[in-house]
Amino acid sequence: MKNTFAWCGKEKNFAAVSNRCTHNGESLSKGKVNFANEIVCPLHGYQFDLRTGREYQQRAADLETFPIKIEADGVYIGL
Ligand code: FES
Repeated sequence: MKNTFAWCGKEKNFAAVSNRCTHNGESLSKGKVNFANEIVCPLHGYQFDLRTGREYQQRAADLETFPIKIEADGVYIGL
């Protein structure tokens, strides 16, 4: 199974990205999601868009993103 960080926002918008920061490998699950729906890495503060995986200033490679499917019985992540 891939090491994945999954997130659900206040508006029930979902995202799933790789949990490993592409800058230096920190676990993004230790970070926080900011007002722009970016996961902020706790080690050096790089900010990755949860929909695209792109780092805000393109200082690191994009995170891998995974498709989300919402069904009546749950939310599924395509790994
Ligand atoms: S390890 Fe994530 S920003 Fe450096």
